[in-house]
Amino acid sequence: MSRLSGKVAIVTGGARGMGEATVRGLVRDGARVLIADVLDEPGAALAQTLGDSAEFIHMDVTQKSAWDNAVAAARDMGNLQVLVNNAAIVMQKTIMETTEEDFMNIVRINQLGVFLGMQAVFETLKENGGGSIINVSSIDGLQSKNSLTAYSATKWAVRGMTKAAALEMGKYRIRVNSVHPGGIFTAMHGNEFMTQEQADNFYTHHALPRVGLPEEVAAVTVFLAGDEASYSTGSEFIADGGWHAGLVEDALPQL
Ligand SMILES: NC(=O)c1ccc[n+]([C@@H]2O[C@H](COP(=O)([O-])OP(=O)(O)OC[C@H]3O[C@@H](n4cnc5c(N)ncnc54)[C@H](O)[C@@H]3O)[C@@H](O)[C@H]2O)c1
Repeated sequence: MSRLSGKVAIVTGGARGMGEATVRGLVRDGARVLIADVLDEPGAALAQTLGDSAEFIHMDVTQKSAWDNAVAAARDMGNLQVLVNNAAIVMQKTIMETTEEDFMNIVRINQLGVFLGMQAVFETLKENGGGSIINVSSIDGLQSKNSLTAYSATKWAVRGMTKAAALEMGKYRIRVNSVHPGGIFTAMHGNEFMTQEQADNFYTHHALPRVGLPEEVAAVTVFLAGDEASYSTGSEFIADGGWHAGLVEDALPQL
């Protein structure tokens, strides 16, 4: 029996990038997955390639009614036990360029979306005897960069909400953890405009001097979805090539 067989998962932003890699990883381990995204064409195409193991639903994570529909669709697929709150957008603007509208737009998707998701699945996960919620934050939920005031605010919020929710939901055997990717080669990273080798050049001073791949983060999320992670909750799981540890200093002795 596969490690995730009998479990149904919702993956937001599952049509491409890290979401797609997570969908594929969950299915490989036996889960059935509801791919929830605003991108209809790639989302539906992905579901089709996965056959009976996946379905696609059009969903905007900022809408409470969309969450209700997604939970109902996932319940129809079986035993909903996993939610991956992965959908997000990024915006690179200085604090002075960021308008109130920009700020609230990113908050609605990256932060409110995660909050609504945790609320929407709670009763079902409780009814199903427990489950795992994985909230995708970022390296920018642990530190930040110039131009990321708004994005970083949402990713720190995701990290904080994860801990509060873990404390509230633990007694119902629901675990809630955050995942913190570093630079990962997806559309959000501009993979339509550069090669993987060019992307590697951004990370020459990192412990692992290269860009990360979606599958390398998905593996962490898939681990958290399963019962082997049964004693992990309220925690941060980092997959960033060592970025958060610090940077290699050229001026100092090296191996
Ligand atoms: N790529 C990176 O370097 C990186 C680094 C750290 C964290 N992250 C985080 O990883 C996650 C996945 O990012 P990615 O790199 O795969 O990006 P991506 O842009 O390739 O994928 C994001 C997905 O979210 C969907 N989405 C956006 N708004 C939505 C909405 N309102 N409702 C439903 N779906 C919506 C998009 O359509 C897309 O399919 C995000 O939470 C992102 O913040 C990415």
